[in-house]
Parts: sequence; structure tokens; C-alpha cells
Amino acid sequence: MKAITFFAMILALATSSACKAPAQAGLDFSQATYKDVTLNYNGTPMSFRYYQDIYYVASPVDSVYQKMNLYIPAEYFSGASLNGYTADTAPIFLYHKIAGYTPAKASTLAEAVRKKGPRPGGGPGGPGGPGGPGGRAPMGGPGNAGGPGNAGAPSGPMGGPGSDSSDESLIPSEINDNPDHPFMPLAAMLRGYVVAAPGARGRLNDNGRAPAALIDLKAAVRYLKFNDKAMPGDASKIISDGTSAGGALSALLGATGNHPDYAPYLEALGAAPSTDDIFATQSYCPITNLEHADAAYEWTYGSLAKSQHGEITPEMKQISDELKAQFAPYVNSLSFKSLRDENLYLEADGTGSFLGWVCHFLREAAQEQLDRGVDLSAYDWVEVKDGKAGEIYFDKYVNFAGRKKVPVAFDALDLSAAENNEFGTESIEKQHFTAFSFEHSQVEGSTLADPKLVHMMNPMNYIPDDRAVTSPHWRICHGTKDSDTSPAIPILLGTCLLNNGFDTIIRLTWDQPHGGDYDTNEQFDWIDSICK
Ligand code: DHB
Repeated sequence: MKAITFFAMILALATSSACKAPAQAGLDFSQATYKDVTLNYNGTPMSFRYYQDIYYVASPVDSVYQKMNLYIPAEYFSGASLNGYTADTAPIFLYHKIAGYTPAKASTLAEAVRKKGPRPGGGPGGPGGPGGPGGRAPMGGPGNAGGPGNAGAPSGPMGGPGSDSSDESLIPSEINDNPDHPFMPLAAMLRGYVVAAPGARGRLNDNGRAPAALIDLKAAVRYLKFNDKAMPGDASKIISDGTSAGGALSALLGATGNHPDYAPYLEALGAAPSTDDIFATQSYCPITNLEHADAAYEWTYGSLAKSQHGEITPEMKQISDELKAQFAPYVNSLSFKSLRDENLYLEADGTGSFLGWVCHFLREAAQEQLDRGVDLSAYDWVEVKDGKAGEIYFDKYVNFAGRKKVPVAFDALDLSAAENNEFGTESIEKQHFTAFSFEHSQVEGSTLADPKLVHMMNPMNYIPDDRAVTSPHWRICHGTKDSDTSPAIPILLGTCLLNNGFDTIIRLTWDQPHGGDYDTNEQFDWIDSICK
């Protein structure tokens, strides 16, 4: 008896010292603390319940990022309805700020006070060291974590007088938002959505490299589903919204629901015993399909002699040509079809029906402008006749969009890309993740990421997969002025979904550079159209 007690004590001590879980009553939402908030939003009172810093896993390994904030309209605590939704039927808008594959904190009200404009792309940032040679963008910053925007028209003054926006627990009494680029959690609540804003680890955390951010988002989804009955909102209607690296993670969340590949990671964190498939996926300019993104980039921009970061040297051109040659066999291996059931293929020289398919989306983008009465005569890449967009001159389009990155765009030969860092491990800061760059590496002793992990970070590998539950609804957007990745990448993802019978919108957004959440009303109209 004594021996048993002694061992039980040892076990209890061992467990308590190993457990990093902060004080929180497990994963039970009904125990979570909150504040009832009423603030003036653009001059109108708005009331909601605000939950800050809910740990969404039972055994967090990070006390900064593995937390979620919840914004729940007050109507759902008094039996009222909002935009036709009730506490039982309201969609849950999953809003995360992941950018550059860096860690992202849960979105707070304090952020609404700091925010100035639309959400910019994060930019890849760097792993923390100086930039490598070869004309790559200067590196070393932590990457823009997608926080305060600065790319748009400045909005009105934010927050009440004397507000301290650096205090994350700040609850402002007044927010004057930019109606064109609103603070998403508040704008989503006005549409009647419950908002779940999880943070997630990222590549700058030693334990935050692939697949950590995806695991964290899945764990947040599991928390919401586990607590569905106790919490207003319908957890069978979760819509994930993400931009760039966040768009890639949104797509991964949408594609890989419940797949056993991710289960051990979720178990290790004490994720709620629930499912993690979601209802709908909004993905802006996803930096995804990383195994093929380099080839797609050279197929698109390989003809340009300059990038935003300098000249393409003859050595780079040689690499570019080799990568470009990989793209046609890749596209052909997919056997995708267009909406008119034509085979989408590429010839060795890069021409073919897949190019026509990409031009189809450029033409649709132009037609949308023409239908609004916009004069497109300044755009030499689209032929306009009688108000109709006709021929697309792809080489001129490429020139218009411009080349942002030098080859190799994602699996950089000097390991300087954000993605090299994302595919690092706890002990290796940066790695290659394609055979091509590994073979051509400029870094002595460089290593190659585990192919299983690379596989797990590409949503296309799980569409279709019998063991994955893929979200039935998708909206994939990419700006016509965005050359952070080739437009072929979001188009391939969307085509993969369409070919597998999923309800999918693929939209190239006119004159839009790298960024997201720039068409909030359209996004919310889409959510209403699939939820009502
Ligand atoms: C992001 C942009 C990039 O160009 C990239 O390579 C990775 C991430 C981003 O904005 O999140």
C-alpha cells in the first residue's frame, strides 16, 4: 500500500512538472471567462460577448499563440436573431492572421484600434539572418505578421480618446472603422456570424515549423466542435478565412479534415476529442503547392529579365529554364479538365489549353470591370471589342504583373526563403523541400525535409482522399497584380476542387496586389449564400 502511494506521488510530481498547461478549466467552454462589451462602432452601439485567451488545447506547448479569442453577438444570449441567424444557426467565421508562415496571435479588439487599412500580404520575411546572395529581398525581419494594414486609404480615427492600443486587453469604447476595409471580427459579427479568432505557432518558433500552424488551427476547430452545444453558433458551419501563407493554411484546413496523418500531433497537444473538418474555405492568394510553386513561377515569369529585387543573371536564367521545363509534365500528370470538359495540358514550350484556362480567369476579371463601365484602354494585355474582353496576351500580362522573386522563388538555393524556414525542424532552422533545390543547393551540408511532412503541407494531396473530409464550399481569390506566387497555383487548387465536384469559386481580382480581405461584402454575401 505504501509503495503504491509513493509511486502515485512520484507520478503526480512527474506529471505536474512536465505539464506546461496554464490554469484553465480544461477544454470546457462553459468555464471560460468573458466580458460583455458595448461599444460605438461607426457611430452605432454594438453589443457582444468577448472571450479573450482561451487555450484551445489541453496541453499547450506555447502560452502566447495556442489561444483563441471569441466574439459572439449579444443577440445570441437573449434569444434574438441577427441577419436571419439565431444562436443555433449562426455560422462561425474562423479568422486567423497567419502571414509569412510566421507565428500569429489571436485577433484582439486592441488591434481594431491600431488598424489603418486593408489587410496586406505578409511578405515572406526571413528566417532571421541576413539575406543571401542572388538578389533575393533583404531578409532578416520577422516577416509582417499580417497585423496593422497600411496599404489602403487611411481610415478615420480609431478608439476612444486616450486609448492605449499596445495593451492587448484594451476594450475601446468607440471604433470608427474603414467601411471598405473593416476590422474583420466586428464586420463579421454585424452579419450575424460568431467569430473565432485563433492564434497559431509559426516558423519563428522552434516548435512552430510545419505542420504546427495547421495542427493549431485544427485544434481550434476541434475545440469549437467539441463545445458546439455550449456555445452560440453552429460548428457544422465553420468558414475559415486566410491570406497568403494564411490562405495556404485555410486551404489545408479545408482539404484535410479529420485525416489520420495529423492525428498524432493533435493528440500530443491534448486537442479536443472531436472532428476538424470545416464547412467552407476562403483562401486569398494562397502560397501553396510548394513542391510545384517554383516550376509554376518560372512557367509564368521566366520570360522576364528583371525582378523587383534585381536582374535575372544568366545563372538564374539557366535555373529558371530547368524549373519551367518541369511545369508541363506536372500539369499533364494531373489530367484536369476545364468547365467545358476539355483536357488541360501544356506542350513542352509552355503553351496549351492550361494556358488558355489561366487566360480564361484573366478575361473574366477584365469582363467584370467592363460590365462596371471601367475603361480598360490602358491595359495592353487584354483586347476589348464592343464592351467584351477578348484575346488575352499572356506575355504582356506577365510584363504588367511583374516578377517579384528571383529563382528559385520558394525552395531558395541559399535557404533564404520563408518556406525553407517553414520546413525546418526544432533543431534545423532551414531545409530544402524539393529534390531540385536540394541537388542545386548553395549551402554546404544542407538537408532535405521529411517528404511526408512536405506532402502534409499541400492541400492538393488530400483532394480527393477517402480518409479526408474536404470542405464542400470554396472561394479562392488571387490579385491580377500579385506575383508572390504564379496565378497558376490558386487556379490549379481551384481546378482540382472543381474536378472533384466541390462548389468552388476561382476569382482573379482586378489590379489587386498581394493581400486579402479586400472584398469583405462579397465574401460575406458568399457566406450567406452557402449558409442560408
Ligand atoms: C507570404 C508571401 C510570400 O511571398 C511567401 O513566399 C510566403 C508567405 C505571405 O504573405 O504570407
